Amino acid sequence: MLVLVLRALPVSLRLSWRLPGCTSWGGTQSRGISYLAGAMRLVQFQTSSDGPRIGLEEKDGGNVIDLNAFDPSLPRRMREFLEVGDAALAVARRAQESGQHILPRAQVTLLAPIPNPGKVICVGLNYADHCQEQNVKIPEEPIIFSKFPSSVTGPYDEIIHPAESQEVDWEVELAFVIGKKGTHIKESAAMDHIVGFMVANDVSARDWQMKRNGKQWILGKSFDTFCPLGPAIVTKDCVPDPHKLGIRCKVNGELVQDSNTSQMIFKTQALVTWVSQFITLYPGDVFLTGTPPGTGVFRKPPMFLKRGDVVQCEIDQLGALRNKVI
Ligand SMILES: *[C@@H]1O[C@H](CO)[C@@H](O)[C@H](O)[C@H]1NC(C)=O
Repeated sequence: MLVLVLRALPVSLRLSWRLPGCTSWGGTQSRGISYLAGAMRLVQFQTSSDGPRIGLEEKDGGNVIDLNAFDPSLPRRMREFLEVGDAALAVARRAQESGQHILPRAQVTLLAPIPNPGKVICVGLNYADHCQEQNVKIPEEPIIFSKFPSSVTGPYDEIIHPAESQEVDWEVELAFVIGKKGTHIKESAAMDHIVGFMVANDVSARDWQMKRNGKQWILGKSFDTFCPLGPAIVTKDCVPDPHKLGIRCKVNGELVQDSNTSQMIFKTQALVTWVSQFITLYPGDVFLTGTPPGTGVFRKPPMFLKRGDVVQCEIDQLGALRNKVI
């Protein structure tokens, strides 16, 4: 009876009724990262017989609910799924509560949560501690640059070390994903346009970023596989404050970046407002919000990635990317 009443309500009401209920999943610890119980973790995945499909990951590394099996009318690509908007998220919540269509993790390969974002918008020098490390002033306005979307790769895929670069470097970053189209978005409305958060590695060929190509960053930032994303889009209702999260990068197990998103200079809402005065934001657009200190190029002596290295980028409550360099 309760279910019938709920289904009769408009989607927005149903969603707000469910917001306090990020509680259906257990498990608060995995691989030393703390998680909020119940976060909705949207993923793109494939199996040996089919894909891409959209799912919900139980927890980082956990089993996956097949949303396309739960509701065959749902799109099979994340970007189109996000274009459906709140109604698609409401179906995902129902699937999460149904306990049905659960695939064992061993049968599932995760892809990038959004393999084809319309744009990948990045922010330079956005951590106070990263500015200190380089001895540069804190920027007065966000420094916006971009990676070509074709650089996106999966959370556990290989990063291809290009023969053209001798200086391939890591950058762990908090990423967020646009869920609703908008332009000239006010800060007070910015969170309405964000669907959730994930981890990104803004892999960078420093030689091409800083010395070649007239010092335009885009080539050095956009080699194929230079943008691992994931493992999941964690919906915003389960990330109460994205600016209080531990953020780390390890290379071959050695901790090279270790900071806190509280160090971000321009926060999530401010970035949405700033960029949307120039550019219309669409569902599936991805923001990379800048990196803390400890990247290879600023180490003394500098240190760069070589073939065979494993880079792990992790953020509390969101999970970890693990990519081998080949
Ligand atoms: C990150 O910073 C916030 C706010 O200062 C703090 O509450 C939180 O415990 C910090 N997390 C880690 C892992 O240091």
